[in-house]
Amino acid sequence: MTRIAITGANGYLASLVQTYNAGTFDFIRVSRSDVDYADLNGLRSYFEALDFDILFHTAANATTADCENDPAGTHRVNCEAAIELGRICHERGKRMIFISTEQIYNGKHEPGPFSESVEAESVTNYGKQKAEVDAWMRATMSDYVILRLSWMFGMALPHVKPSPGIVGNVVRALRTNTPTLFTVNEKRCMTYAQHLADQFAAICELPSGAYNFASSNDLCTYDAARVVAGKLVSAGIATPDAVERCILPNTERYADRFRDFRLDNRKAVAAGIQLGTFEEDVDRCLADFGWM
Ligand SMILES: NC(=O)c1ccc[n+]([C@@H]2O[C@H](COP(=O)([O-])OP(=O)(O)OC[C@H]3O[C@@H](n4cnc5c(N)ncnc54)[C@H](OP(=O)(O)O)[C@@H]3O)[C@@H](O)[C@H]2O)c1
Repeated sequence: MTRIAITGANGYLASLVQTYNAGTFDFIRVSRSDVDYADLNGLRSYFEALDFDILFHTAANATTADCENDPAGTHRVNCEAAIELGRICHERGKRMIFISTEQIYNGKHEPGPFSESVEAESVTNYGKQKAEVDAWMRATMSDYVILRLSWMFGMALPHVKPSPGIVGNVVRALRTNTPTLFTVNEKRCMTYAQHLADQFAAICELPSGAYNFASSNDLCTYDAARVVAGKLVSAGIATPDAVERCILPNTERYADRFRDFRLDNRKAVAAGIQLGTFEEDVDRCLADFGWM
């Protein structure tokens, strides 16, 4: 069985991938408690000694505020550690799968969707850190897969705790009766994370390169939130009154510059990866969890 070393093993996407691929791969779980990503020498010793076929590097501090408040510390974890892991894989002739992000395009003035060949331009430390790794891998490595993920969503499962996503944010607003703002001046892709878990085996076999991993979307984030809320109303889970009260437009955020950092998924689809549209993904997520 192929041995996959998986960093950030307790994280959302890593847990989901392990849950649905446990019988297909031998996962070697690596967590912060095993290795300090800020100690590059320790990191090297640990991974040089580890027996694996593919490294799936998901560990990162993805909290944007942390990356702004601690640029040096988060750069070490999100960027320098990832590049060191790339070096080790390159030296040992191992494939590395790295999770990059749509946020590498959040500084663009022209509208998306962006294909993989478009140069990164980010205005946040998180986006810049991911873009630096992404560019280093493309320039240096011979066997790698970079997955540029959109904003992912899903619901909780045993041992799988989702990061904040559009469906979870809408459900939380309605369930707790909390007026919640959703950004109007932003378009991004939003993807059901199950696609990643379902297609992990195919991802491991992709030709070396960078791939956008995103279902397509034409809506701003506020309109997308209203679509999710509308489906919950149709399913009898929420009332129209609650939607009016809780799902609110934020017109001030990014009023200075509309942010469209959507990803063009045609390269991944042409390589056999199945992705959908935002609405299809929401329907599937709600159906999977018995909400529709
Ligand atoms: N979720 C999304 O929408 C999305 C979109 C684009 C890209 N991504 C990328 O996908 C990857 C996984 O995201 P996720 O949503 O699954 O996030 P997550 O649940 O926060 O998982 C990330 C994991 O990384 C490890 N980690 C976190 N902070 C760390 C730190 N300071 N030092 C070392 N390790 C740390 C932790 O795992 P351990 O405790 O096991 O070490 C954590 O559970 C990340 O690289 C993220 O940047 C996510």
